[in-house]
Amino acid sequence: MSDRDNQLNAWDRDHFFHPSTHMGAHSRGETPIRTIAGGEGVYITDTNGKRSLDAFAGLYCVNVGYGRQEIAEAIAEQARNLAYYHAYVGHGTEASVTLARMIVERAPKHMSRVYFGLSGSDANETNIKLVWYYNNTLGRPEKKKIISRWRGYHGSGVMTGSMTGLEAFQKAFDLPRAPILHTEAPYYFRREDRSMSEEQFSAHCAAKLEDLILAEGPDTVAAFIGEPILGTGGIVPPPKGYWAAIQAVLKKYDILLIADEVVTGFGRLGTMFGSDHYGMEPDLITIAKGLTSAYLPLSGSIVSQRMWDVLVQGSDAMGPIGHGWTYSAHPVCAAAGVANLKLIDQLDLVTNARETGAYFQAALRDALAHHRNVGEVRGEGLMAAVELVEDRDDRRFFDAGRKVGPQIYAAMAEKGVLSRAMPQGDILGFAPPLCLTRAEADIIVSAMAGAVKSVLG
Ligand SMILES: Cc1ncc(COP(=O)(O)O)c(C=O)c1O
Repeated sequence: MSDRDNQLNAWDRDHFFHPSTHMGAHSRGETPIRTIAGGEGVYITDTNGKRSLDAFAGLYCVNVGYGRQEIAEAIAEQARNLAYYHAYVGHGTEASVTLARMIVERAPKHMSRVYFGLSGSDANETNIKLVWYYNNTLGRPEKKKIISRWRGYHGSGVMTGSMTGLEAFQKAFDLPRAPILHTEAPYYFRREDRSMSEEQFSAHCAAKLEDLILAEGPDTVAAFIGEPILGTGGIVPPPKGYWAAIQAVLKKYDILLIADEVVTGFGRLGTMFGSDHYGMEPDLITIAKGLTSAYLPLSGSIVSQRMWDVLVQGSDAMGPIGHGWTYSAHPVCAAAGVANLKLIDQLDLVTNARETGAYFQAALRDALAHHRNVGEVRGEGLMAAVELVEDRDDRRFFDAGRKVGPQIYAAMAEKGVLSRAMPQGDILGFAPPLCLTRAEADIIVSAMAGAVKSVLG
């Protein structure tokens, strides 16, 4: 290791407070450090010169792949011409206006306006406030509770961390805070009653939701938030009929639907949006990651026409909306978004996610589904997971202390392929850049099969 690397590692241990990291182990030097220096296509290179295939596209966000000069040039040009202007009181820039138009053109037909933020978390905070504003405008001040799902992931803020249904993001912070409630996760593999078909399990989830709404009082429940396919909670596609059953309950009680498409927006499932894929008709769609492929931070709340009409009534009664971030619609981020969406079209990456995704899913199943410790291989498009179990016949899970998932992650990383050990359960996640080729898919699958063999035999 060079002197420079040693210096960087020492600074890292002493000064860098990393997210989602064991603070003690890291600062004591018990965990590896990887400092990334470059990226090209689906590969990243660290400061030691080790090249790895990034099969999780960073945090499922570098959708067009690394090193895209078109986006870098667009960012540089915008920064040279106009690095910043705000978007308050009707201001904008060519980049932010153009991007809003491009997003609405690609979104489901009934969507109408985009409010820009910087992260998935802040976009979901905006969504909660828009839902409350909507019901205040309609004279329903009691209708404020938000229902999320266990294992849903919606961010790390106080309200969004409350909506996130994962223990590690809540327990030590006294979350969830009212008025956030949780209902059953659409996790067919982990269903309690194993005799249920997928359709029966979907009906069961919808019935649980209805029970919760009735117990709380329908007049107090404002919105339901869900990712089209559970992401950080385990990469779990919904069981058959799930979204139709859930939407029927929401309609019955006049409850808004927020589709959190931070991961699924802009092609990951092989359709432009996950809502298109599953026939969802949301009132709000959360977008982030794939909007700029993470070349710069940018997020958005896409608002339906129906909801927009009510928000306008609110403004007519109450004046300008009292909500805004300094960096809303930041022009340099918006320029990255415009260049990124153009590239997704030019390279036809949504089709590639569908076609190479189908190839990848089949190859993962062929290589792993027969293994005695593989409980399930699942996914959609270029989003997949392999769930490991101690015994697949009685679906017994490994003791969390054995850290089977992290061990498999480490064995793959050693061979130059980066997956993600999902935070709850022994689940290896895959969400590579959407430009993945079949040959690269083969490399991921064989690294995963090799790692499972080396860790579990
Ligand atoms: C579905 C979903 N929503 C929201 C977020 C939060 O986004 P951010 O980390 O940009 O705040 C994430 C992040 O992974 C996510 O997966």
